[in-house]
Amino acid sequence: MDITLPAFTPLQESLFLMLCGRALDYRSPHSILSDMMADEIVRKLGYDCDKFRLSASPIFNIALRAKKLEEVALKLVTSHPNAVTLDLGAGLDTQILRIAPPPTVDWYDIDFPEVITARQQLIPDSANAHGVGTDLADPNWLDAIPTDRPAVIVADGLLAFLTQEDMISLLNRLTNHFPSGEVAFNGYSRFAIWAAKHYRGTQSVADLIKSPGFDDPREPERWNPSLKLVEEILLTREPEFPPVLRLANRLSAHSEALSRRGTTVLHYRF
Ligand SMILES: C[S@@+](CC[C@H](N)C(=O)[O-])C[C@H]1O[C@@H](n2cnc3c(N)ncnc32)[C@H](O)[C@@H]1O
Repeated sequence: MDITLPAFTPLQESLFLMLCGRALDYRSPHSILSDMMADEIVRKLGYDCDKFRLSASPIFNIALRAKKLEEVALKLVTSHPNAVTLDLGAGLDTQILRIAPPPTVDWYDIDFPEVITARQQLIPDSANAHGVGTDLADPNWLDAIPTDRPAVIVADGLLAFLTQEDMISLLNRLTNHFPSGEVAFNGYSRFAIWAAKHYRGTQSVADLIKSPGFDDPREPERWNPSLKLVEEILLTREPEFPPVLRLANRLSAHSEALSRRGTTVLHYRF
């Protein structure tokens, strides 16, 4: 490997779990996301994804929720070609390359400065892509983002690492900054947070998880009354499940409560 990345904190290192999930999905015979770039980055870095000991189920979950978020984002940037898109806690995700938004969309990948430096080293530049190196808890980072265009805001794998207070304050700052917008993220139920703290494959991030999770997709509407739930996607009800997971999926897909214990993608408008 002839790339030297900045030294990452354990929180920043959490991006490798997701990157490896997408790379391993790419290598599987029936890839859900086909994220070739994730695999290329892992190979370029010589990163040892085996250390996470990810089984088929979490790999599938990481890939499917990324795919669902990508579908939502693609639909939104297509219908708002003047949008400003923010990927919060972007890590080394190359969603912008998978989506290829129109050149009129400005896309901001936001993460800690070390991660943005790593992105510049590893991810091919696009004319409409911008990196913002900041702690999302810093109230000033939005100063660098246009205020007069609709926003498309996505966050994959970020919210587990924010306290509920941080999350509410971030959502408030976002909805105050833009005239209108859409926000989509993967939700974490209370059970999903408990599981992430105890499951072997996520032990590397267990101590970093700060969110208590929430079960009711309408809870963010109560935190911030300008948010309106547009859609709750229960992954257990999506058609992509591989045969090996289909039986468990069929059992839980009948129950909304059980499905919500697993992975969801939540989409709000403001
Ligand atoms: C699990 S990773 C997900 C990365 C990426 N979204 C993906 O799907 O590959 C979480 C990311 O959120 C970033 N992050 C967590 N808390 C943050 C904060 N307060 N400010 C900026 N970035 C943060 C981490 O650095 C990391 O890159």
